[in-house]
Amino acid sequence: MKQKEIIYVIDCGSQYAHLIVRRIRHFKIEAELVAPNASLKKLSQAKGLVISGGPRSVLQRGAVRLNKEIYQLDIPILGICYGHQLLAYDLGGQVKIAPQREYGRALLKIKKPGQLFSGLKKIQTVWMSHGDKVTKLPKGFINLASSANCPIAAMVDPKRQFFGLQFHPEVSHTENGQKIMDNFLQTTKVKRNWSMRDFSREKIKEIKKLAGRDKVVCALSGGVDSSVAAVLVHKAVGKKLTCIYVDTGLMRQNETKQIVKTFRSYQKINLKVIKAEKQFLSRLEGIIDPEKKRKICGKLFIEIFEKEAKKIGGAQWLVQGTLYTDAVSSGVSVGQKTAVIKSHHNVGGLPQKFGFKLLEPFRYLYKDEVRQIGRLLKLPKTVTERQPFPGPGLAIRIIGEVTKEKLEILRRADFILQEEIDKLPSKQKPQQAFAVLPGIRSVGVQGDCRTYGQAIAIRAIATKDYMTADWARLPHQTLDQISLRIANEIKEVNRVVYDLTGKPPGTVEWE
Ligand code: XMP
Repeated sequence: MKQKEIIYVIDCGSQYAHLIVRRIRHFKIEAELVAPNASLKKLSQAKGLVISGGPRSVLQRGAVRLNKEIYQLDIPILGICYGHQLLAYDLGGQVKIAPQREYGRALLKIKKPGQLFSGLKKIQTVWMSHGDKVTKLPKGFINLASSANCPIAAMVDPKRQFFGLQFHPEVSHTENGQKIMDNFLQTTKVKRNWSMRDFSREKIKEIKKLAGRDKVVCALSGGVDSSVAAVLVHKAVGKKLTCIYVDTGLMRQNETKQIVKTFRSYQKINLKVIKAEKQFLSRLEGIIDPEKKRKICGKLFIEIFEKEAKKIGGAQWLVQGTLYTDAVSSGVSVGQKTAVIKSHHNVGGLPQKFGFKLLEPFRYLYKDEVRQIGRLLKLPKTVTERQPFPGPGLAIRIIGEVTKEKLEILRRADFILQEEIDKLPSKQKPQQAFAVLPGIRSVGVQGDCRTYGQAIAIRAIATKDYMTADWARLPHQTLDQISLRIANEIKEVNRVVYDLTGKPPGTVEWE
């Protein structure tokens, strides 16, 4: 069997499984998340395997188990947290429920550096999150390190190149986590020349093979993810692709115009525009619950999309720009389910209902990686540098009932905000900035008269991956301009506030 220059990360249900993949890709190494039941044939092609953490105890019935034949493949393996315990459990060591659980920061005492800790000081700050612990080494293993509550916090079988870490090297709180990952990856001898260009090329080839002769539809939102996905698929199937863009009436200023221009005239993609403002506003009438709004928008979008897709006739494939973060927020990962925070309107439901097969080329990518592909595919900056915009659009940025009048106010406020943000040098630009209409009225004084107007909240965030975020430290001058302009140019608004909430505890969107 020919080996590939790839590392497979076996997802045992950890919140961080995707992060491991990302960390490996950082070294220009191809990495992919795979399910625990991935075939032995597939796994045997990898240069190295990582077994992720997971929410269960290896001692529990129903915990994720792997085909033990992976230990005969003669491939280096790194087990992290649950993976560490599984190595011990499967290979004849012992795992016990620890009386003292260990969550968060811990000090690791390195007894023997071995290859894993080569170049590191004897005491390391690491991040732990476990209940069980390995209490007896499997045959052939050496204990490398311990922590206060964990006598075997790292182990190695030098002959088979099997490594186990009780802590998480993939999270940034483990101070030398990347160095430890690097040390493991060195042992696999995997090539470090993989890039997003390779990813795009392989994806185009894969899609051509899979769907090249069939009709394909794409729900284009104009956002980075679905736009780049559409262009990538267009490269693979050409005219067989039809994009459907539903103008929900919940879009930002000039958005629809820009999208039509980019896709029809620049990319020459088959694009159908469906005007649906009236339908969306009528279904949203009287609705104030955020999840209800999301569900209503998602459902109506599907109805309209279904109707339009049927008109195309014989389409078998549906393109979606789902990202890893979308899948996680909606509780879908490769191996196990994670907690549902919000019902994102671009994931799930659609294909099963219509019998479409799904093309989701970015399911394991992050936003910044998709932007990179967009640049490679020569998409204009208005698309690649575009901020994320949620499927339910401005409906979830208006707190309370959505009306045409409120939409108009919010649209104008958001437009002013974007104009001011655009003036900032790129280093100072937040990753995402938008206006929210909290639906609160307050007393003001304008032109010597009492007013009782709307408030606008400004949300601007600094983030790497949208999973966590900090509020952006925008220059006071910019904040001042935004506030002045919004209150002066929009007569219904007499108050502007700035949202100082991170994620957690907040989410990026208010609803
Ligand atoms: P939250 O609010 O979940 O947002 O912290 C994280 C990122 O996701 C965007 N977002 C969405 N994107 N469909 C999308 O495609 C949605 O339903 C949706 N809801 C939130 C949000 O703007 C932020 O960038």
